[in-house]
Parts: sequence; structure tokens; C-alpha cells
Amino acid sequence: MAILLSTKMSAMQDWRAALLALEPSLDIRLFPDAGAPEEIEAAVCWTAHDMAELRRYPNLKLIISMGAGVDHLLRPPGPPPGIPVARLVDRLLTSAMSEWVLLNVLRFHRQDQAYRAQQAARVWDELPAPATDATRIGILGLGALGSDAAAKLGALGFPVMGWSRREKTLPGVKGFHGAEGLDAMLAQSDFLVCLLPLTPETRGIINARTLALLPRGAFVLNAARGGHVVDSALLAALESGHVAAAALDVFEPEPLPAEHPYWAHPRVVMTPHAASITIPASVAPQVVENLRRVRQGAPLINLVDFSAGY
Ligand code: NAP
Ligand code: GLV
Repeated sequence: MAILLSTKMSAMQDWRAALLALEPSLDIRLFPDAGAPEEIEAAVCWTAHDMAELRRYPNLKLIISMGAGVDHLLRPPGPPPGIPVARLVDRLLTSAMSEWVLLNVLRFHRQDQAYRAQQAARVWDELPAPATDATRIGILGLGALGSDAAAKLGALGFPVMGWSRREKTLPGVKGFHGAEGLDAMLAQSDFLVCLLPLTPETRGIINARTLALLPRGAFVLNAARGGHVVDSALLAALESGHVAAAALDVFEPEPLPAEHPYWAHPRVVMTPHAASITIPASVAPQVVENLRRVRQGAPLINLVDFSAGY
């Protein structure tokens, strides 16, 4: 039985090497060269793979996302009925995301853009000192990524809040949940950081209404999915000064079209969906473990809850 990998060719070679280094007996096929469809027992896919295509494999037993997110696998038509989907939860994926969050929080908090402009103009002038203990950070999503970012921001001395679907208590983090919890957290968020999965419930969550709830001059960071942000609302909030600046890693669509206003916006900092990139050698053990478990009929790890949508 074989495993089908599907992403861009250069990454598939890295994935193949990482999986074979752990388990040399694996039969790995690189999409579109799947070979005989009945031989495929697991598919490890990234965003471009069409879920309708996976219905060609009569013996498919497991689908694994090549990232933490699974929205690309769950969007219509979704995975073949009855086939479990697992995602990645990984130390390096988590720490890289926290680095991106810290980089951009500190960039704005320490007025880095203003100091760079001063340097370019040879201006020697100190700006008002930023008070870390009075700069409140609200994180949308307190999962693997949000909880790590929360702990690291807290360690720097920022008051940290977090919003989750279910009530959650994390040390040093003021927790919020549900619709009222969201509005209450937004009203106190000098920085808003989005680390939610993209689901029907969370699509468009950063919109005109929710942005208006933020304190004037708040900063917005989104490294979750482009679909979380209503772009016209964010651009309007930047235009009015209600939002001081935004750091965006994810967009809809990707790549972001060259004519999009974000590219040249003076108060938008962009990265090309690179906040946290999966390192195949780091995640290979959990992929091999899930392959072993699916063969033995044992409970899978990092399984997606279809009813919750992530
Ligand atoms: P996770 O562990 O599944 O955590 C998701 C968090 O969001 C949980 O706290 C969950 O609440 C909360 N949540 C989900 N739906 C909600 C709702 N309707 N209302 C309130 N809270 C809700 O996910 P993760 O591993 O942290 O990853 C989060 C996302 O980051 C991924 O789905 C992916 O889209 C994105 N990502 C981006 C990059 C990048 O490079 N830009 C890299 C990796 C991941 P509960 O705690 O109650 O379950
Ligand atoms: C990246 O976007 C991921 O979901 O891992």
C-alpha cells in the first residue's frame, strides 16, 4: 500500500526524504503520479489538492494536512465521506508562528516604522516611551498557536487576553469565549492577533463591526487565513486611523493580486503566507505514527473534529 504526497514538487521531494529517513519501507507516490488508485491508503495534501480527486482511491483510509490548517481539505466537496483527516501540531510550526507574532507586535509597539523613517531623514528625535504593561493584546484563537503566542507575549510583560470557542483557562491569560466574550475582548485590545482556524463561524470575523469595537489606534495582526478579514473594512479602518497599522501574512486569494491596495499601503506590513512554514523533517514522526495507527486500527492523533470544522 502507498502514500500519496501532493504539494509543489520541490516540497514533495523534502517530504519524501523526511518520511523515508524515518521509515525506509514506505511506498511514496508524488502526485500526479499516483500509480494504481487501489494502492493508495493515505494522502498527505496541501492547499491545491482537489478533494474530488481523492474519491478516485477506493482504499483510502486517511488524509493528512501538510499544515496546521485544514480549511483547504474541508471546503466543498470536502474529504471523501468516512475518511478521517489529521492535521499537524508541531513544536517548530508553533514556535515560528510565535516569532512572527512577537516580531510584528514589537515592530509596532516599539515604533519601528517611525524610527526607520526618522533614520532615512537623519532625524534624531525620541518618540514617547511605549508602556508594555499598559498595552493589551487580544488573541483570537487559543489553540496550539494562540496559547504559545499568549505565553510568550505574557513573558514580555504584555497583559494578554485570548478568545476561544469553549471556555478556557490558561495561566496569565484572561480568557473570553462566545459572542459576548468576543466583543468584551475586542473593546480592550490595543493589539488584535488572529490565530483562528478558518471555519464558517470564523470567516469574516475581522469586519467593520468588530474593528469598530477596538480602541482607536489599535494594531491588527492576521497570520491565520485571509478569509478571516473583510479587506474593505480593514482598509477603511486604516484610512480613518481607527486601526493604526496591520501586519498580514495571509490573504484571499493567494498570491495576493499585484493591484491589491495592501501591497503599497504605508501602514500594512506583509509577508507571503510565510509566518510558519512546515518543516517536513520535524513533522514526519507524527505522519508516520498516524500511518502506523491507521494500519492497526488504533486511535489517530491530531484528528480534525468535523463537527467543529477544525
Ligand atoms: P487549533 O489548535 O485548532 O486552535 C484553534 C483555536 O481557535 C482554539 O482555541 C479554538 O477554540 C479557537 N476557535 C475555533 N473556532 C472558534 C470559534 N468559532 N470561536 C472562538 N474560538 C474558536 O489551531 P492552531 O494549530 O492554533 O492553528 C490555527 C490556525 O492558524 C490554523 O487553522 C491555520 O489556519 C493558521 N496557520 C497559519 C500559518 C501561517 O503560516 N500563516 C501556519 C500555521 C497555521 P477551542 O480552544 O475552544 O477549541
Ligand atoms: C499554514 O498555513 C498552516 O496551516 O500550517
